[in-house]
This record gives sequence, C-alpha cells and structure tokens, in this order.
Amino acid sequence: MSVTPFVSSLGSGQGAAEADEVRLYYRRKTQDILQKYGPGPRVHFHVGLFSPESPPHPTDSRDVLRRRLVDAQERIVEHAARSWGAYETPPGRVLDIGCGLGGASLYWAQEHGASVTGLTVAAEHPPLIAGFARQAGVADLVDPVLADVHDLADTRTYDAAYANESSGYTDRTRLFEVVARALKPGGWFGIQEHFVRRPEWRDFIDGYYRTRLGTYEEYLTAAGAAGFELDRDEDVTDAVSEFWVQSMAWNTAELDRLQAGGEPVAWTRERLGESTIAHGKLFRLWRDHAMETRLLRFRLGGRR
Ligand SMILES: C[S@@+](CC[C@H](N)C(=O)[O-])C[C@H]1O[C@@H](n2cnc3c(N)ncnc32)[C@H](O)[C@@H]1O
Repeated sequence: MSVTPFVSSLGSGQGAAEADEVRLYYRRKTQDILQKYGPGPRVHFHVGLFSPESPPHPTDSRDVLRRRLVDAQERIVEHAARSWGAYETPPGRVLDIGCGLGGASLYWAQEHGASVTGLTVAAEHPPLIAGFARQAGVADLVDPVLADVHDLADTRTYDAAYANESSGYTDRTRLFEVVARALKPGGWFGIQEHFVRRPEWRDFIDGYYRTRLGTYEEYLTAAGAAGFELDRDEDVTDAVSEFWVQSMAWNTAELDRLQAGGEPVAWTRERLGESTIAHGKLFRLWRDHAMETRLLRFRLGGRR
C-alpha cells in the first residue's frame, strides 16, 4: 500500500475547501458503505444494472436486498469491462481513479490479472483495500494510493484508466490532461458517470454527494482538448434507475429493524430517513432522464 501522493499535497487540483469536504464526506461515509454494500472483499460505491424482472418484494430481508445491490454493482463493472474489450485484450496495468473501497480494483486484478493502482483521497480507504486485496489473494496486484488525481504525474505507465463515479469530483480539463499523459500509446480511458441533463437539479445532487457533476458535452470538449476520441458510448440510465428503488428498500428494511429495537450498526435512523427521501427524488430524476448515466470509453487519437 502506498501512501505518498504523486507530486504534491492532496487537493491541489480542487479548491482546498472543496477537497476537504470530499475527504470528510468519505470519512463519515465509509462505515455506511461497508454496512450496506459489504462485507467484501469486493466493495463498491456506485449504481448497478438491473433488469425489470427483479423488483424488491415487500418482505425481502435486508440481506437479500444488500446482495441484490452488490450483484447489480458487479454486473455494471463486468458489463463495462466486457464492452470495452477487456476480455479480448486484458489491460496489464490499470489506473483505478477514485477507487473508493476498491471493489473495481480487485475486479480488474482478479478477473483480468491486471496490476492495479487505485487512487483515493480518503485516508480510511487504502488500509481497508489492502486488507480486502489480501483476503482475495491479489495483494501483489493491487496498490491503493492516497492521492489526488489532479496531481497525477505518471507518464506512459498504464494500459487503461478507469473512473467509476469519481470523475464527477474532478476538474475535467485537468483530469483528461493527466490521464492522457499517464496512458501508454493506444491506451483507453473508461468512465462510468452521471451527466446533468436538467441543470436545475445539479445543486441538489452535488449537495448530496459533494460532487461537481458535468454535462456530456463538457466531457467531450475536455477529452478532445487532451487528444481523446470517444469510441464507446452507452446510455444505461434506464437500467440503473431501479438501483435507487432497491437502495430505498434496503433503507426501509434497516429502518424497520431499528424501529423494532435493533442496535444501529453504522446507519442512524436520521441518516436512513434523509437518504430515503433523497432516493425518492433520485429515482424520479433518473426515470425522467433529468440525469443520465453513461459508460464511455475514450481512446487517445492522433494528437500525441
Ligand atoms: C462514488 S465513490 C466511487 C468509488 C469507486 N470508484 C467505486 O465505484 O466503488 C468516489 C471516489 O472518488 C474518490 N475521489 C474523489 N475526488 C478524488 C480526487 N480528486 N482524486 C482521487 N480520488 C478522488 C473518493 O475518494 C471516492 O473514493
């Protein structure tokens, strides 16, 4: 596990206050994530793919709902990797930008034999990821690093870069610049992200997740300026909108348990209430495509 940032102090690419807010958010959130999406070793914090056949039943237990959320998260990671060609041409070295608790870092190592560098700004994450990687038998392949992607200084190092719901925390111009430099010639950059379609909802979502989400057009402009071309583009909004409903169902089941006198694990009643109200809105925003989730793959074009 590395703990040294690449070139300078954490947070230099964002406003310092903004970067501190993101770190604080993940410090508070880590135990919540482990309770809801754990126990690992592959722990994810992003939406997942659902098919219409699996609505939550009112009597589903928390464990059934948790398993369904995790399966959907695994499904979207696998689906993206497959459609980006990872089975035909496995990337030997992967940069997992904003790796969270490392679910996808472990996925790339376990399923594709990749050597993975995971970046996160939350100091709580690297030791947890290192433990999960040991549990999964890929400690030699997964290197979690406490660092801000805006400071990335690697050159021609990685075959692929991957950012699953983390690019929404970045300055996109800088992100695409540093990733363009860090990739080997012919490398690709895969992104799972939410894009703003109806700007009036941006503040609500950014306030809730501490993000600074952008539009699809903004990404294409920043990517093009750094020499990238978009060569895969899949709109998965409809298939992920059910995630909010299933997530809400888990909240309700946990709330029922606490109301029946159960001991809190990480989530408090207050947080479960807030999250459930927010999820009701999030579901409607995704259903109406006020926000869109896309899987994008960029390749370096001829400008390098
Ligand atoms: C929504 S979580 C996604 C985690 C992970 N990709 C997953 O899919 O499970 C966002 C992650 O981005 C990381 N992050 C936010 N800003 C970052 C930055 N400037 N540099 C590196 N990581 C960052 C956070 O530490 C957090 O781990």
